[in-house]
Amino acid sequence: MNDPLRVAVVGAGGWGQQHARVFAQRQDTDLVAIVGRDHDRTSAHAERWGTRGYTDLHGMLDAERPDLVTISLPNEHHFATTLEIIRSGTPLFVEKPLVFDLDEADALLREAAERDLFFGIDFNHRFAEPVQRAKAAVDADELGRVVFATWRFGGSANYGTSRHANLIETQCHGFDLLEHLVGPITSVMAQMTDVTYGDWSTLALALEFEGGPVGTMLGTYDSSYAYPDSQLIEINGVGGRAVIHDTVRELELSRADHPETRVWRAGYFDDEARSFHRTFDRHVDAVLAAFRDGRQPPVHARDGRRALELAHAAVVSHETGTRIATTRRDVDPLPRNER
Ligand SMILES: NC(=O)c1ccc[n+]([C@@H]2O[C@H](COP(=O)([O-])OP(=O)(O)OC[C@H]3O[C@@H](n4cnc5c(N)ncnc54)[C@H](O)[C@@H]3O)[C@@H](O)[C@H]2O)c1
Repeated sequence: MNDPLRVAVVGAGGWGQQHARVFAQRQDTDLVAIVGRDHDRTSAHAERWGTRGYTDLHGMLDAERPDLVTISLPNEHHFATTLEIIRSGTPLFVEKPLVFDLDEADALLREAAERDLFFGIDFNHRFAEPVQRAKAAVDADELGRVVFATWRFGGSANYGTSRHANLIETQCHGFDLLEHLVGPITSVMAQMTDVTYGDWSTLALALEFEGGPVGTMLGTYDSSYAYPDSQLIEINGVGGRAVIHDTVRELELSRADHPETRVWRAGYFDDEARSFHRTFDRHVDAVLAAFRDGRQPPVHARDGRRALELAHAAVVSHETGTRIATTRRDVDPLPRNER
């Protein structure tokens, strides 16, 4: 048995509690620190998870020398702290979105690549049971040639300072999942509305994928997460169709011209597969396995940059009324072990 990995969590807000929970409870990790801004709140969080609280990132890095740092900071405040951790030479696993600005994304990727750092991003939707089963069906050619795909996701507003908060911080999951399930998106056209509170809170995108499939994305902050099918994904091939309801709730697999549909739902006692939060635990399983083996993370931060690139293409499309080509070209130099 290897020694437990020493993991520090930066950001102890709502979702940071999931980070703390996972690394405090696993047998193969020690949660060695939580870093926050407010001394009393950070101490209380640290006490809850049986670890030490810090308000000084550098002090924590010097004192604890963690093997891995995870970051779960407010959406629009990822850059400076991520850069600081990269420059300390510490491997890291960060929350989506990578950042809001493409130059900042490139700077982070470049600095991490120069240090050959492990740099993963939490696109945890990929690890939901219905998504994994849908991916297996696509890979096994059960749907036949995919012709179109649809993503719809949204609920109430998560206000940010960017007018494109919804597109960048929430729909990044959609860009990532559609490319994961269908393949590279080669062009984007966008419509957006700001009628409710002045930000581009609902958007509709038309997509083209490499090899011919087309797709749509509907992302909104003007709806409700209380509605069934707040998230709906459909992958339609000539031979069959996969439909995912609410990420973890249900997968339907149908075959063309067969009026029966196979349905996956978590079994009565299977709370793990039914839980959205547990998609993070599953992702951490894969992250730690890769980290221990010296492999690249299962979802590299480059994929965060890619989702941001697609979001920016949607912004340009909306502003210019044109279709924007989005062929993927990774800009960071490949780390040594990938050359
Ligand atoms: N992958 C997912 O499914 C998922 C789900 C929810 C949230 N998230 C992501 O997690 C991140 C955090 O979201 P949240 O809802 O917890 O946000 P939040 O605003 O509730 O929490 C952020 C915390 O970071 C603290 N903080 C701010 N600046 C700091 C600094 N410099 N150093 C240390 N702490 C600092 C804040 O005080 C706050 O406690 C976001 O990037 C969000 O998109 C991901």
